[in-house]
Amino acid sequence: MDDLRQKYLDLVAGAADEATLEDIRLQAVGKKGEVALKMRELGKMTPEERQIMGPKLNALKDEINAALAAKKAALADAALEERLRGEWLDVTLPARSRRLGTIHPVSQVTEEVTTIFADMGFAVAEGPQIEDDFHNFDALNIPPHHPARQEHDTFFMHRDEGDDRPPHVLRTHTSPVQIRAMLKQGAPLRVIAPGRVYRSDYDQTHTPMFHQVEGLAIDRDISMANLKWTLEEFCRAFFEVDEVELRFRASHFPFTEPSAEVDLRCSWENGQLKVGQGDDWMEILGSGMVHPKVLDASGVDSTQWQGFAFGIGIDRLAMLKYGIPDLRAFFDSDLRWLRHYGFAALDMPTMRGGLTR
Ligand code: DAH
Repeated sequence: MDDLRQKYLDLVAGAADEATLEDIRLQAVGKKGEVALKMRELGKMTPEERQIMGPKLNALKDEINAALAAKKAALADAALEERLRGEWLDVTLPARSRRLGTIHPVSQVTEEVTTIFADMGFAVAEGPQIEDDFHNFDALNIPPHHPARQEHDTFFMHRDEGDDRPPHVLRTHTSPVQIRAMLKQGAPLRVIAPGRVYRSDYDQTHTPMFHQVEGLAIDRDISMANLKWTLEEFCRAFFEVDEVELRFRASHFPFTEPSAEVDLRCSWENGQLKVGQGDDWMEILGSGMVHPKVLDASGVDSTQWQGFAFGIGIDRLAMLKYGIPDLRAFFDSDLRWLRHYGFAALDMPTMRGGLTR
């Protein structure tokens, strides 16, 4: 009986899977198994022998069954372990950016600009794209017959026959958000307003819809010097260079006095733009000190407050920084173009981590 016991315990110990265990079980303790055959032999024994052998055989049967159950549990545990190892997933791995699509250069540059100005304490303000005459023109010191109205190639909304109120327009610039921000928040104030603007114009550098970012800082003693520092700081951060040189050129906008267009020192080498060096100047924005009439139209007392404003073309910034030659392609929705010029979806620009990686 000891041989029998050892034989089956060894077989159980060596079994590699459940099917083998089942074979062993049938062979050992099944109805026609070796232990059952031995039990049948009990009938031929004397009562005394039976009294000894009976319990021994039962104990053997129990022992083999227990060994089978233990081995079965161990095999199941091992199988689970194996599965857990195989199905392990590192949830901290970065997502596959291709599957998520790419970020459009306009969105990327808007994020970059917003990040830089946020770092300087500018909040983001918004206004509607369908704007009224007051906010888009009048309050910005562009009265009905001002020549600036013609320069804006304005899209007018439909107006019913006989309705002689001024029509709404698709805003021609982000400057109306200056008015809305001042009316809503009063002074002091420091905001930027990125967004879509519309003008009826179409060629390599103009599309009927494009993007601007407006800047506005109002306080008691804001000057042109603050404007210059802010814009230099912005250009340094945006073009990711240590030194920039700006040139303020006297200009005219109805909503600023004095007004300046700002040029950036640069050079072009093999079609590649270098900022901060060279003999070329590139116009990048319009700016000036907010006209007292604009402050007064926005409920800000122009005898107490003053400030600067600027307007930058976002698409133009994107073309310059990322070497994109034709503006029209921005809005063609051509996937090949988007994959080429797009940015990884999870690389958000930050001042600390870098705007672009
Ligand atoms: N609104 C002007 C445009 O669309 C740009 C601009 C110029 C905005 C001067 C300003 C500014 O805030 O001060 O052409």
